[in-house]
Amino acid sequence: MANPLLTLTRRPRRNRQSHAIRSLVQETHLFPSCLVAPLFVQEGEKLKTAVTSMPEVFRLSIDHLLKEVEELVQVGVSAINLFSYTPEHKKDATATEATRPGNLLQQAISAVKKNFPAVCVMADIALDPFTDHGHDGLVDEDGYIVNDSTLEVLCEMSLRAAEAGCDIVSPSDMMDGRVAAIRQVLDSQGFTQVGIMSYAAKYVSSFYGPFRDALDSAPKFGDKKSYQLNPANSREALLECQLDEQEGADMLLVKPAISNLDIIAKAREISCLPIGAYQVSGEWAMIKAAGERGWIKEDQVLLETLLCMRRAGADFILTYGAKKAAKLLG
Ligand code: PBG
Repeated sequence: MANPLLTLTRRPRRNRQSHAIRSLVQETHLFPSCLVAPLFVQEGEKLKTAVTSMPEVFRLSIDHLLKEVEELVQVGVSAINLFSYTPEHKKDATATEATRPGNLLQQAISAVKKNFPAVCVMADIALDPFTDHGHDGLVDEDGYIVNDSTLEVLCEMSLRAAEAGCDIVSPSDMMDGRVAAIRQVLDSQGFTQVGIMSYAAKYVSSFYGPFRDALDSAPKFGDKKSYQLNPANSREALLECQLDEQEGADMLLVKPAISNLDIIAKAREISCLPIGAYQVSGEWAMIKAAGERGWIKEDQVLLETLLCMRRAGADFILTYGAKKAAKLLG
């Protein structure tokens, strides 16, 4: 009897037999130019403070921030997303520091744009790094995160970031209607060229823990379930994407990335806007922690996760491994 294997006409392994052939048929690529580095800035000079739960990530004073941007540019990463650290004594219930003219976030934006005009500077827009309660919006006497009055603060914060020279504002607060409100304010003040990258599909997640260590921004009461998405839901995430697109977002973001690749793929299908993925702090911490123990090959895992985010449909990726990945690719 003939060996049925010898009659095989379809042998997909033929296309995998050499590096040259595999390169020809590779469907997705990862480039340093797809990466955005999230960076934490703090007040002071010559300060580079380690974030314990995020190895290789530091809170940087502006002088060190500029050095970091220079290193990123050298390896081909030309976009950053800025977060500013607010010392406890400057935090209050209404996030006054978030909109103070000349605050640290604005100083950092102008310093980077002055020294590296070609770099795309994004500024994270949300109140949690500035509020003493750690929530992304204003809180009423019942502990509810109030939507509409929060929008006014987010708009002012966005306007200040635009005045400081930022290219793209990135609202990460998940309040309803913030994209439309921010667009309107920016346009009315002549900032029609400033883009909005909306954290459209942002889930409630324990993967944000190390980020909250970095900014001392963990909520002091309750949780973020009344504004961030329930990880059980996908249609709701797509609704958020549609609404943000209608409201005028220029780019949509999905986060965390690794646990929501399906949402990246679905968002890619329903929207023609660029889609970003955010490999968040807990994802980075897991890769680093297992890597340090020798349980996984950290560099390969980093590149593999980023490539798979691209395959899922992400045009660009925010990752704490931006510099490392770019070096590995280079
Ligand atoms: C704040 C914000 C968070 C992240 C980005 N912007 C934390 C949160 O919503 O609690 C998480 C990023 C990360 O974990 O790397 N609005």
